[in-house]
Amino acid sequence: HFHIDHATPERVTEAIAAGETHPHIPDYEDFEAYSGGGGYAALAALRETGDWEAVQRQVTGAGIRGLGGAGFPSGKKWGFVRAAKGPRYLAVNGDEGEPGTFKDRHYLERRPHFFLEGMLVAAWAVEAERCFVYMRDEYPAVLEILRREIAALETAGIAAPGYIELRRGAGAYICGEESAMIESIEGKRGIPRHRPPYVAQVGIFDRPTLVHNVETLHWVARVLREGGDILTSVEKNGRRGLRSYSVSGRVAAPGVYLLPAGSTIRDVVEAAGGMAEGHELKAYQPGGPSSGLLPASLDDVPLDFDTLQPHGSFIGSAAVVVLSDKDSAREAALNMLRFFEDESCGQCTPCRVGCEKAVKLMQAESWDAELLEDLAGVMVDASICGLGQAAPNPFRSVLKHFPDEVK
Ligand code: NAI
Ligand code: SF4
Repeated sequence: HFHIDHATPERVTEAIAAGETHPHIPDYEDFEAYSGGGGYAALAALRETGDWEAVQRQVTGAGIRGLGGAGFPSGKKWGFVRAAKGPRYLAVNGDEGEPGTFKDRHYLERRPHFFLEGMLVAAWAVEAERCFVYMRDEYPAVLEILRREIAALETAGIAAPGYIELRRGAGAYICGEESAMIESIEGKRGIPRHRPPYVAQVGIFDRPTLVHNVETLHWVARVLREGGDILTSVEKNGRRGLRSYSVSGRVAAPGVYLLPAGSTIRDVVEAAGGMAEGHELKAYQPGGPSSGLLPASLDDVPLDFDTLQPHGSFIGSAAVVVLSDKDSAREAALNMLRFFEDESCGQCTPCRVGCEKAVKLMQAESWDAELLEDLAGVMVDASICGLGQAAPNPFRSVLKHFPDEVK
């Protein structure tokens, strides 16, 4: 493996020629720097007072919601897990597989201890017997950083040896679905389970399990250190808080941008240095392929949880992909369906066969809108998990917003 910050073809050639076989580790804040700056004081205070409910109130008051994409209120989840009879586990979903999402990697490669402290705080709150960190194997630098820093926590006596277990994913998108991830942690093939029961009640080895995304835990630690105001004091377009937008596509400076939660696509593009030269905004994917495509005319909608619902979309993990007048919305949607076809775990027919059929129907010069809508209805109603339920969104959004391209 070798990891490159900006993987230009020249840099890859250079790295291979130089015989680089280990991940390149970017500069990051290590244990010493983090704890020297006040890190782990919040965890120590919680362990001393034991008042997990006070911390839960802070997390809830700051408006922290699940940042894997679903936006479920985090404090509420702690309450569910804590109410279920122990022993309990904590699992971190670091299998950041949503195309266009790279915010977790961004934080882990810079300030990994916010995440680690947030995780230990949440683990204390639900009295977790062990923490499993399920990390995307395509992030070798992150894995190395976590190995080093977990060892530093063990040496410092902050985590008992073996309390934090690092697990590597093997590249399956579906293993980012929380119950498939749990199957994978248990050593089985990663396929989603039916819910209910929710993993808060029946998770790893049938025990109540608190599942959080990496960035959610990052904000837990930051709020405890810096105060809930860092989120609640930010207001824009009637929305409160901050969102980490992973921005790619036809912008001048792709990257992760921390912006007010009420930002519109115009604000996001502006933060990313504006449109790439010679490109005009035509469409955008607001939150991963399952959120479909929105037209440039919807440029005044805040890109936050709940605000995109009226347009048949959602913000998800805030993976914004910007398309320009040089791009085809139908080709982009077809590419998304090919991805879902490849990544479907295959256990249920509406998704396994539905994705394949959709790809075929979308290859026709003119789309059969009625048949595609019919297919979408079945996939939404009868698929077991979010992959199959949301897979029709790309073609539905093209039928709605770009009908001229598929006539
Ligand atoms: P969901 O809304 O079903 O669940 C969200 C969380 O809340 C889960 O942990 C679930 O267990 C918990 N929960 C919900 N209702 C509950 C209840 N009544 N009792 C106890 N716990 C409850 O959403 P889901 O399917 O987990 O996630 C979908 C999102 O994931 C989408 O928004 C999508 O954008 C995102 N996603 C993110 C990826 C990434 O790389 N970050 C990859 C793929 C999808
Ligand atoms: Fe597997 Fe798709 Fe069914 Fe989800 S919807 S369980 S990915 S076949």
